[in-house]
Amino acid sequence: MARKKAGYVPALGWDILTPLYDPLVRVTTREMGFKSRLLDEAGIDKTARILDVGCGTGTLLLLARRRSKSLLAIGLDGDMNVLDIARSKARRDVEQIALIQAFCFDMPFADGVFDRVLSSLMLHHLTRSEKVRTLQEVFRVLRPGGEFHVADWGQPHNLLMRMLAFSVRLGDSFARTADNVKGRLPALFRDTGFEKISETARFATLFGTLSLYKAHKPLTAAAHRRSGSASVHSLMGV
Ligand SMILES: C[S@@+](CC[C@H](N)C(=O)[O-])C[C@H]1O[C@@H](n2cnc3c(N)ncnc32)[C@H](O)[C@@H]1O
Repeated sequence: MARKKAGYVPALGWDILTPLYDPLVRVTTREMGFKSRLLDEAGIDKTARILDVGCGTGTLLLLARRRSKSLLAIGLDGDMNVLDIARSKARRDVEQIALIQAFCFDMPFADGVFDRVLSSLMLHHLTRSEKVRTLQEVFRVLRPGGEFHVADWGQPHNLLMRMLAFSVRLGDSFARTADNVKGRLPALFRDTGFEKISETARFATLFGTLSLYKAHKPLTAAAHRRSGSASVHSLMGV
């Protein structure tokens, strides 16, 4: 059973396991396949500002920056230990990414500042009420017409995937993973105000079905305060 810290669950449930996160995810989830597909879906090379919520060790952000050197790529995670790993990977790859320690349900950004918000393997860590608050925050920080792209455990698409999903449910709690495996994430996106919601891909993994979703913030959504400058501080409204 994962150990909930103040405000977040560590990447593999326990701090002591965090250094094993990258090798484990690489071999068990077809990581490069689903993360590349997520960036394709998000049209990352045509965007200026992205946020990765629950960025963990920063793999997705680094892949995004490799596609577009002009991209302002910001990662948010509640766990300082996992951000330290992301920081050292960014230094090694000489990539410019900004990493911020904060909780996904209380983001330190101004309204409407991101073109895309991405989230990979994070929503299943949250309780229902944390998911709802997080989706409201994602909606708030996206510009009208902006897009939310998610990769996370989805509804198992066959018996084998249902059996394999059991280990994730056991490790990450049956309550927190229920909305994922019962296929309820699209309904939660819709309840938040997103439109044009779709499941764009499914990957069979050793932990069950991994689904990709996309959702749009309507162009008609409330006006926002967008800063002209693209510094991290301006996005944070400071
Ligand atoms: C399974 S890891 C996924 C990391 C990365 N996105 C990936 O795809 O490899 C989930 C991440 O979500 C973060 N997380 C969990 N709850 C959070 C919260 N309430 N606020 C911010 N980050 C959170 C954890 O610290 C962890 O790094």
